[in-house]
Amino acid sequence: MQEPQSPSRGAGRQVFLETFGCQMNELDSELVRGHLGALGYRFTSDPQSADVILFNTCSVREQAENKVLSRVGRVGQRKRRGARVVLGVIGCMAERYGAAMLTNYPQIDLMCGPGELDKLPLLIENAVKTGAVEAAEGARGEAGPSGPLQRVALQGNRTRRSATLSAAADNLELLDLSRSFDPDSGGGPAARRNRAYVRITRGCNKYCTYCVVPYTRGPEVHRPPGRIVEECRRLADQGVIEITLLGQTVNHYLYTHGASITVGGAEAPQIGPGASAFAGNGASGGRRTTFADLLRRIHDEVPGIRRLRFVTSYARDFGDDILRAMADCRRICRYLHLPAQSGSDRILKLMNRGYSRSLYVDLIDRARALLPGVCIAGDIIVGFPTETEADFGLTRDLLRRVRYKNCFIFKYSPRPGTAAARRLADDVPEAVKRRRNRELLALQAEIGGEVHRELVGREVEVFVEQVSPHQPRRAASQATGGRRGPRVELGWERPAFQMSGRTEGDLITVFDLPPGQDPDDLIGRMVTVEITGSGSLVLEGRLAPTPANGVRSHD
Ligand code: SAH
Ligand code: F3S
Repeated sequence: MQEPQSPSRGAGRQVFLETFGCQMNELDSELVRGHLGALGYRFTSDPQSADVILFNTCSVREQAENKVLSRVGRVGQRKRRGARVVLGVIGCMAERYGAAMLTNYPQIDLMCGPGELDKLPLLIENAVKTGAVEAAEGARGEAGPSGPLQRVALQGNRTRRSATLSAAADNLELLDLSRSFDPDSGGGPAARRNRAYVRITRGCNKYCTYCVVPYTRGPEVHRPPGRIVEECRRLADQGVIEITLLGQTVNHYLYTHGASITVGGAEAPQIGPGASAFAGNGASGGRRTTFADLLRRIHDEVPGIRRLRFVTSYARDFGDDILRAMADCRRICRYLHLPAQSGSDRILKLMNRGYSRSLYVDLIDRARALLPGVCIAGDIIVGFPTETEADFGLTRDLLRRVRYKNCFIFKYSPRPGTAAARRLADDVPEAVKRRRNRELLALQAEIGGEVHRELVGREVEVFVEQVSPHQPRRAASQATGGRRGPRVELGWERPAFQMSGRTEGDLITVFDLPPGQDPDDLIGRMVTVEITGSGSLVLEGRLAPTPANGVRSHD
């Protein structure tokens, strides 16, 4: 970072940070935690005891924004009752609304878009000092300085869009690179227990007509492959065994060597090359690193990573070279998150998705042919402007054809400033959107149920993530079918846990923790699970009696 990492800065201030939206936001929050943690801030899960409250926000749908606004409203009530807390709105809403939000919500002290997060500590300190001055002046009976003049909203992506060079010298690169590798700093990979996200591109240039991301996260910038591999290696050295590479259209990663060099001679991030670069299927040459090259490099150079996955894939320009890398490299997960958005060519065109239904289906077929057992997840938007029953019928057919393991289904939400919101009336009535949404959810539940059922009776490798959030604790005697674990015999009923993790194909898998075993011993580890049952979104099983699992036998 630019400023010295002096722990005195945060002076033990308690920060409450809540994250909304996508995995990119989760990663940004992790980086913010690491950065603030290194400066002496501490994190709390209780907003009431926090000195600083930060909301890392999402603008993709109106609903996501409304959730944040209601939280902001609640903090406002507390502040009006005299609570002294700094409130910061960071992420996409900060970028989208900018200073206007400070005017409408005087309880907000600072705003910081996703392209400016490296400056967040400065903004917090500024807000803390402003608050202290206001409080002192208030105590002396003087009028405090008018809030908005003291408060700051940093939006960066708009200006950076026109400034190629500054994008290439992106300060954010430093934030990614300086991610905390210290598990005690309140952030690092330890917080996610041996799994981590690694960004390979930021921003997006695709301008799907409904989408706010190109406006909030700015132009597509690709990180140098050497830095990405180095970040993966450092994570692996810390014990991380599962890495998810992040990009809005991750398969469009393409880095041209020698084109962007920093003053010190190191390779720098560079602006995305645009669609023409993929003519000829993005073939790699000595001077370019394609996405397939990058996957192979990480796989081969960081063998400690037992699972490598990536999101989100974009159906256009997804070459067989990527599928072949996935087939050749055993530790790359056979999993694709490949949003279709619609099954109707007419709607895809209005969405400016840049591919047809047949191109999409062809990719699914190629993936299934080259990667037997591959699991595919999708995103669909229902009720896009002008969507007819016939268009919707084509989407329903597509779900049957593709057989997603799960599919996120969203009702179209017009986002101010996007092409669709400007040019197309939001003419599908809410009741129709709701019905189409329900119908697709029901259909997907059926398909998901079938996809999951196929695994019953098999053994699968599961990366254990957490104590299951849905079915938390049951009495030990219940969970073990009446058998009592050793600790129960010692006289204290130890609650049994249901653990939750994921297969290589990202299928959620739950299993009971064997009696006497500590959940912490399993979280962040790979175990073998025998699948005994399934639902539309989950597999159920039990730990296989293997020495690696630490389970002796099931009787
Ligand atoms: N880069 C990702 C998309 C990020 S937004 C991709 O290419 O798919 C995540 C999902 O939110 C999108 O896939 C889309 O299904 C949904 N979405 C985005 N904007 C939306 C809007 N205005 N209304 C409803 N859903 C939207
Ligand atoms: Fe959004 Fe389309 Fe990019 S959905 S993130 S503009 S690929």
